[in-house]
Amino acid sequence: MEVFECISKRRSVRSYCKKQVPDDVLEKIVEAALLAPSAGDIHPYRIVIVRDEEKIRRIAEAALNQMFIAQAPIVIVYLVNIEEASAYGRRGVELYSLLDVGASMENLMLAATSLGLSTCWIGAFDERKVEDIVKAPRGYRAVSLTPLGYSDHIPRAIPPPSKSEKIYYDEFK
Ligand SMILES: Cc1cc2nc3c(=O)[nH]c(=O)nc-3n(C[C@H](O)[C@H](O)[C@H](O)COP(=O)(O)O)c2cc1C
Repeated sequence: MEVFECISKRRSVRSYCKKQVPDDVLEKIVEAALLAPSAGDIHPYRIVIVRDEEKIRRIAEAALNQMFIAQAPIVIVYLVNIEEASAYGRRGVELYSLLDVGASMENLMLAATSLGLSTCWIGAFDERKVEDIVKAPRGYRAVSLTPLGYSDHIPRAIPPPSKSEKIYYDEFK
């Protein structure tokens, strides 16, 4: 799929079918996630691919009961390794690591879209509970997650914000 078509087709999908994701498809999607840029090429995160139904249900509950997450056959969880992120000091921990995860998540979501799968960025969740569910060692912070699967209910595109409101040339006007 052409890149602009893929970007405009990606939607936050909140309804999934039971169809399983083939291993080779999953592999391609996570490979795309690791191709994202990262400050100092450190990639100070881990990606946990959760396929266990019970764990997925608990993650949905930990995500403020956003139970549509539990319909998906896979949930992808991103965790930052604080020690690796601190290679760039406070800025590395508080900014670069989160930007790195954002870039990687977007790659993952676009790769999923191009292969006919759906995702939904989930930021609203109890970090401690999710860290507990994936048995994260100390020093890891769960920062974002997404369900991954097939869907028959792709929502209509939301119009993007207007360029006049968001884009400036040379300076704020
Ligand atoms: C940082 C971040 C956190 C988000 N958290 C949630 C969430 O917890 N639950 C949810 O349903 N959508 C969440 N979203 C998805 C947004 O609601 C969605 O991207 C937005 O409404 C635009 O829709 P679109 O993704 O289909 O373009 C999140 C998106 C981002 C970038």
